[in-house]
Amino acid sequence: MKDLFIVANWKANKTEEEAIYWLSEFRNNLDSLKGQFENKELILCPSYPVISAVKNYIDKFELPITLGSQDVSQFGRGAYTGEVPVSILKKYVRFCIIGHSERRENFQENDEILSRKVSTAIAGGLLPIFCVQGKNTFIPLGVKIVAYEPKDAIGTGNPDTPQNADEVAAAIKSKQKEVTSVLYGGSVNAENVGVFTEMEHIDGVLVGGGSLDSNSFISLLQKC
Ligand code: PGA
Repeated sequence: MKDLFIVANWKANKTEEEAIYWLSEFRNNLDSLKGQFENKELILCPSYPVISAVKNYIDKFELPITLGSQDVSQFGRGAYTGEVPVSILKKYVRFCIIGHSERRENFQENDEILSRKVSTAIAGGLLPIFCVQGKNTFIPLGVKIVAYEPKDAIGTGNPDTPQNADEVAAAIKSKQKEVTSVLYGGSVNAENVGVFTEMEHIDGVLVGGGSLDSNSFISLLQKC
């Protein structure tokens, strides 16, 4: 059985109370996920202010969840109002999503900015999950985990076909040899997750809307 990364991207959703409720439901259902984590790394990406409380809960109950951030600053510590640098984040998270299409579009993040984010993250000891929209999207050096997320598939209920996603994943790996894992993201849910994770070149999924309800997300985990 191949190793899979299952990334839950909560985006700008969930207060601290809602996050803890999600975790408590997850914890109550852990028995139904027995054996599921032998080949899966579950990476949860809450919003910044919620990360610390989520980490405390995960540590307290020893939940099989690793934390990630949804972004990271391209800068270090200092006079960068509103930014969260790696040096502050790394106490809480091991992974960081970089280059999500919502950030490229709403915050004008370009290849130059994203390259700086990747090198800053790696230098500080975080593992970037770098989002691309197609096989020709620029991927900075040092990236090992890529999430292929076609824009039309995000939040639309219209996922890519597993065959096309697999071809893109294969093309990315053959073009950039450092990339060891390619995840698929875009309208993944409990019904379709299995057809993506069983594809030869796909090493997991990045789930947005499908991760917000813990019961639906648990069904998703059971099916991949
Ligand atoms: P979605 O989002 O699962 O809601 O389509 C995926 C993403 O944007 O990462």
